[in-house]
Amino acid sequence: SVCYLNGDWMELSEARISPMDRGFLFGDGAYEVLPAYSGKVFRLDEHLRRLENTLSNLGLPNPMSREAWRDVVRSIVARNPWPDQSIYLQVTRGVAEVRTHAYPAEVTPTVFLMSEALTTPSDEVRAEGVSAVSSADFRWLRCDLKTVSLLANCMLKQLAAEQGCMETVLFRDGFLTEGAASSIFVVHDGVLRVPPKSHLMLPGITYDVVLELARDRGMPCQVREVLEEEVRAADELWMTSSTKEVLPITRLDGRPVGKGKPGPMAAQMGEWYQEFKQEVMRRGG
Ligand code: PDD
Repeated sequence: SVCYLNGDWMELSEARISPMDRGFLFGDGAYEVLPAYSGKVFRLDEHLRRLENTLSNLGLPNPMSREAWRDVVRSIVARNPWPDQSIYLQVTRGVAEVRTHAYPAEVTPTVFLMSEALTTPSDEVRAEGVSAVSSADFRWLRCDLKTVSLLANCMLKQLAAEQGCMETVLFRDGFLTEGAASSIFVVHDGVLRVPPKSHLMLPGITYDVVLELARDRGMPCQVREVLEEEVRAADELWMTSSTKEVLPITRLDGRPVGKGKPGPMAAQMGEWYQEFKQEVMRRGG
């Protein structure tokens, strides 16, 4: 596949980065994952806005204007062969002369983009739902920033992988935060619930789409703290992300969620999400 590194286009296998890059040494950088459908990038400006917010909170100078970002993201899609793609975009603080924790004065950010074929969950997987485990959320207190320091997320996702599960649902102090790499929604007596955005979770682009759809189309929803007990007693549990879209979780820690089958509200939201995608793509992304 074709990737972008610091202004140049090349084969991914040809790309080289210095071991002195602060992304390598410290995990000092920001990233985004953007889906493209039929060659059109979905919610591009929302992803770029979140990137800008992560960069400014890291004190990392944004190396490109909004317009330049749009161009480079659209170009990588155009240069790669698949109609549906998952674009990975990363900005690190750059290559420093010496390894010091505090931000070096004169560094140029490293900008890297790559693309993979996007495979969203199949109809069979959606019809069955997936299994998840749960864990205490032992990440840091700036989970609102999309940084490449993802070791805690990797450890937490590994817990799921070891049990043959898709996701790890995280609880902090008795409350739901999110998944290791997704937002988590619950359904109780016909009401959709999700925790409010805070420093304890990533402000998901898909989270926003789901809430917009629920509000526009009249699905009862509440943004409020969700207790661990409420998650365990939920009628439905969903994970949402740019690559998984809306995916029902039907087993948690080996026990069925609700009736152990995807619920009617997940099916409804899944349909709305697909319709919305089509509509946005018709308008040009
Ligand atoms: N992850 N929470 C976390 C911790 C995430 O890593 C993600 C996405 C989400 C969902 O965000 P969005 O709806 O904007 O994709 C929530 C991406 C896909 C990843 O790291 O691969």
